[in-house]
Amino acid sequence: MTKREYSNSEITIVWQPDLCIHAAHCRKQLPQVFDPQKRPWVDALGASTKQLIAQVEKCPSGALSYYTNDGKTPVSHKKETGEKASEWISVEIIENGPLYLFGNVRIKDKRKEETIREEKAAFCRCGASRDKPFCDGSHLKINFKG
Ligand code: FES
Repeated sequence: MTKREYSNSEITIVWQPDLCIHAAHCRKQLPQVFDPQKRPWVDALGASTKQLIAQVEKCPSGALSYYTNDGKTPVSHKKETGEKASEWISVEIIENGPLYLFGNVRIKDKRKEETIREEKAAFCRCGASRDKPFCDGSHLKINFKG
């Protein structure tokens, strides 16, 4: 799986384009950092580390993640702010889009091969994804309604 990394002095943002579903939360909510028109499209110097972490943690597909540069230990913004990760798995259905799952999940495919997604995953509801069961953003191309 392709990975690209973008660093400031404290953290490194990791982008896995194969997981991206083009929800666009990052470019809409922190455009000074995430701008698909620029190369590189992520400017890790464009906001504070705290802002970067908060935005990366909003990525619904898990395509964006990060680690700290001092030992590559992920630090959760939720832990810093005292929010507790829920033991419950949450599911959110996005109008005209995927089903978001928040929580750790282990998925077995029809060959019983396992895939693990930590913290979040986006599942296809439209049937057009080329990466089933995951959403790959194809719902936008087919103008899925549902
Ligand atoms: S819901 Fe996104 S590709 Fe099907």
